[in-house]
Amino acid sequence: MKNVKINWPNKESSNSTPGVDWLKAAHDANIEIPTGCLGGSCGACEIEVNGVVVRACIATVPNEKELNVEFFSDPYW
Ligand code: FES
Repeated sequence: MKNVKINWPNKESSNSTPGVDWLKAAHDANIEIPTGCLGGSCGACEIEVNGVVVRACIATVPNEKELNVEFFSDPYW
């Protein structure tokens, strides 16, 4: 069930499912999170979720009603 509302830095929002990989949730919303190692060590994929920094390549969408995502490096906007 897609019951997590995600607000992206480009002001778009999407709905996702708790436990989904962040990279997939972003991809589904046509958002590209910059990545590097995909193993949790380089930090290229870091995003801020409700003010908490997570590494998107090794983290999943938490079970919350609504999430506000910010990017640190933003090549697109
Ligand atoms: S891509 Fe390197 S920490 Fe996520």
